[in-house]
Amino acid sequence: MLIAHISDFHVFAQAPETSLVRMDAADAARKVVSDIALHQPAFDAVIFTGDLADGGSTEDYELLREILAPLRIPIFVVPGNHDNREGLRVAFQTTVPFKAGPYLNYEARVGDLRILALDTLVNGKGYGALDPGQLDWLESRLAELHSGPTIIAMHHPPFPSGVTALDDMTLRDGKKPLARIVAACDTPLIILAGHIHRPFQGIWFGAFCQVGGGPSFQHALDLRPAAPEPGSISEPYAYHILRLDGPNTLTNHKRYVSL
Ligand SMILES: [Fe+2]
Repeated sequence: MLIAHISDFHVFAQAPETSLVRMDAADAARKVVSDIALHQPAFDAVIFTGDLADGGSTEDYELLREILAPLRIPIFVVPGNHDNREGLRVAFQTTVPFKAGPYLNYEARVGDLRILALDTLVNGKGYGALDPGQLDWLESRLAELHSGPTIIAMHHPPFPSGVTALDDMTLRDGKKPLARIVAACDTPLIILAGHIHRPFQGIWFGAFCQVGGGPSFQHALDLRPAAPEPGSISEPYAYHILRLDGPNTLTNHKRYVSL
């Protein structure tokens, strides 16, 4: 089982919403998509952890769908803070099994892989949140017996990057109960997220955690405790490949793409 983890394309049709986003974000996204489409062996699925668009207009999602069109495999998406929830629902409603209701949570299967997608978008805010109903749903899904691996996909990481100015704008409401749910799970969990615009991995309450970098821009690394928010930096970009073999074996590779 091969999964490509991508994040934070920030595609825009007219003008960017975010000052750090490169003006050729769509071209950068096309290069990433082309690399994923041509990869051998073929990927089984793509998990896209939010900020697909940089503003979330109808035109942004039309452009995004055109950019993603070369991918002939399932693409599982969650909204980021720069997405529009309803625009995203409309753009992917024929391919992503969104639950009915106010949030874009859902469960999906690819072979023996279970994907639990969480919508952490708070309209108009940079930080994210999970409400008690979303957490109850996640807990109930994890309580169901599942013999394969489980990935939780969400935009705002609940785990720290160590870049404190960025960590102040991640998951707020729901972080503690999510930690309790993750810690209580008796099978290994993988949590994939975005938002930080720097690739990193960690372990949080027993779960393997990963943030995907963003081809639209990458933040500089500054681990000083009181450092101001870092600006962007020109660094090589890579998306992540997760090679899963049952519920207990994960190998993680970086796949560099020249943007
Ligand atoms: Fe982003």
